[in-house]
Amino acid sequence: MTDTAGPVVTSDAPIIAADPIPTPLAPPPDILRCAYMELVVTDLAASRNFYVDVLGLVVTEEDEDTVYLRSLEEFIHHNLVLRLGEVAAVAAFSYRVRSPEELDRAVAFYTELGCRVERRAEGFTRGIGDSVRVTDPLGFPYEFFYDVDHVERLAWRYDLHTPGALVRLDHFNQVTPDVPRAVKFMEDLGFRVTEDIQDAEGTTYAAWMRRKPTVHDTAMTGGDGPRMHHVAFATHEKHNIIAICDKLGALRLSDHIERGPGRHGVSNAFYLYLRDPDGHRVEIYTQDYYTGDPDNPVVTWDVHDNQRRDWWGNPVVPSWYTEASLVLDLDGNPQPVAARTDTSEMAVTIGADGFSYTRPEDDADELPSWKQGEYKLGHQL
Ligand SMILES: [Fe+2]
Repeated sequence: MTDTAGPVVTSDAPIIAADPIPTPLAPPPDILRCAYMELVVTDLAASRNFYVDVLGLVVTEEDEDTVYLRSLEEFIHHNLVLRLGEVAAVAAFSYRVRSPEELDRAVAFYTELGCRVERRAEGFTRGIGDSVRVTDPLGFPYEFFYDVDHVERLAWRYDLHTPGALVRLDHFNQVTPDVPRAVKFMEDLGFRVTEDIQDAEGTTYAAWMRRKPTVHDTAMTGGDGPRMHHVAFATHEKHNIIAICDKLGALRLSDHIERGPGRHGVSNAFYLYLRDPDGHRVEIYTQDYYTGDPDNPVVTWDVHDNQRRDWWGNPVVPSWYTEASLVLDLDGNPQPVAARTDTSEMAVTIGADGFSYTRPEDDADELPSWKQGEYKLGHQL
């Protein structure tokens, strides 16, 4: 049998927070899934063109300053809100909860943590009723709701599907300076870790966490934060992602492609990262795996494994590590961004002192020359 020297599989996430947020006595709300993101955009027509005409999301409703979009298999009012504003940012990471009563739990949970909490019986966006918005202890604007308008699920409307059809909202990805602290808080909120990236010294660079039985509803990526790294929509098949790339090329919009297409090590999913007209990052994602059993194993990757973020060993572009979107407080003001103090993944993998390997037993300088150049900043042609 070939020694594949892949990631380490354990029964529980070996992530210890040095500076934990206290666990509230109040139980957390029972969260079903990530449901929608509210994005502030600075040119609504340009964003509408990108998400509707290029990516094929469906307009549920719109007015002069807001567009409500959904994916083709969705039955709730929207998965993405584009709202015109001065500063491109994220106004809400929104989750659906299991029942209306869970909103009382959300209020109690975050109030005990000393967070700002706002509840509106009429909701914060069209199509959604009673909702709770908070600025969470990590600085992110989170929303919880149950009551929502049902709309037509377009799964069978193949006459409307394009070759790159986006069928579901899959996950969010958040940038935060202290990943173990964020993970511990999210575990208190009822999330379970499915995968993470660490080094031998115990630094955690990123972690993936789920409520629904996929690899994640959100991930915590180490970096200056709070910021939003990306929002991800699912396609059915890998070829749908290739079709999106071909379409962007045909439209002379290939500069929207930031990274990929490729296959992730983490999550095993096929991926593509795009940047929208404001620079908000959108991932197109397909074919991760089922994680719904209570003893689903946790997969831990070595930060120096050059197959962790791309299974084929393709390099990660520096912008993917460094750039992310601002997030807003409940008054609509950008949250201040705090610097990460733990070592950065980019620095330890592609910086001047960084290294990556294909096989862990190889010496650090044993990457072939054609790979070495790709991973060292300044070596690019
Ligand atoms: Fe992602």
